[in-house]
Amino acid sequence: MPKIIILPGDGIGAEIVPPAVAVIKAVAQKHKYQFEFEEALIGGAAYDQTGHPLPPATIDLCKNSEAVLLGAVGGDKWDNLPVHLRPEVGALLPLRKALGLYANLRPVQVFSVLADASTLKPAVVAGLDLLIVRELTGGLYFGEKKKEAIDGGYRVVDTLVYTTPEIDRVAKLAFELASKRGGKLMSVDKANVLESSRHWRERFISLAKEYPAVALSHMYVDNCAMQLVRDPQQFDVMVTENMFGDILSDLAAQLTGSIGMLPSASIGGQVSLYEPIHGSAPDIAGQDLANPLATILSAAMMLRLSFNLETAAKTIEQAVAAVLADGYRTGDIMQAGRQQVGTKEMGELVLARL
Ligand code: IPM
Ligand code: MG
Repeated sequence: MPKIIILPGDGIGAEIVPPAVAVIKAVAQKHKYQFEFEEALIGGAAYDQTGHPLPPATIDLCKNSEAVLLGAVGGDKWDNLPVHLRPEVGALLPLRKALGLYANLRPVQVFSVLADASTLKPAVVAGLDLLIVRELTGGLYFGEKKKEAIDGGYRVVDTLVYTTPEIDRVAKLAFELASKRGGKLMSVDKANVLESSRHWRERFISLAKEYPAVALSHMYVDNCAMQLVRDPQQFDVMVTENMFGDILSDLAAQLTGSIGMLPSASIGGQVSLYEPIHGSAPDIAGQDLANPLATILSAAMMLRLSFNLETAAKTIEQAVAAVLADGYRTGDIMQAGRQQVGTKEMGELVLARL
């Protein structure tokens, strides 16, 4: 029986993951699929119980599973730990690396009834369907870091490193994804300044010859940030390095009305990891306020990509669309005249529409 590892993590993680698991279970029952679930520790919760934010047992469990569903990690409580013990750098990044997940897919889709929940004009975002492919195991996040005392202050270093194979593998994946969608690929870089970006661009231009059906373009990351709010519909698939992708995907999330709506899939290894793109939101944790839809939509991505269950994935996405069409909203996407519900109730409303 395929095994799914559940990693609730910290903050709202413990609230948004159970509704998503309930949704997977309900869909599995409906379509007669069987999954085994096992929960494991990660993040501050793992640090508190075991002294490390990513216990070896958690890595082993994940490696020996078919897919992993993660809530979120981090919180003020662990912000002052030595950096290698902090939930983000000590757990999330090494987990992505350990599983070889070099590509993070962040689909930015606007549900029609939420077009006016965005802070942008509805005409700008209505019908938006963009896929961001973020490189996930290289670049500034994983390059050499240093902090040296110098002249009564410090000299601090982060390094942006990419090798040709690291660029090529994510490029190929992005070309393939673009060929299955609208056939347009935008590679985002800073080739006017960065050496790493110049090589990134060279590799994309060279590989484009293998994908004649995909129209490749290039854009500088600063311009891309502007274009995303000016006219996001010009994009089909966007691919970029780790740090640029982190920033641009938060920006793009807001086009959908709330960062609480965006799911993600991290792929490229044997076992894929599914998580909402938002963080652990300690400010609203434990109050039944968080939006579980990004995690529920991440579960749909899991069924589609890890288990090839397209119908089941669609069932979940349609149930989410139906709940929104029926006027239910969590606080982050609340609009006048709609009914505000909490995390648990939102999960139950989705379940009822499966
Ligand atoms: C994300 C998050 C993480 C990242 C943090 C929590 C380390 O912002 O998944 O986008 O920067 O990758
Ligand atoms: Mg981020």
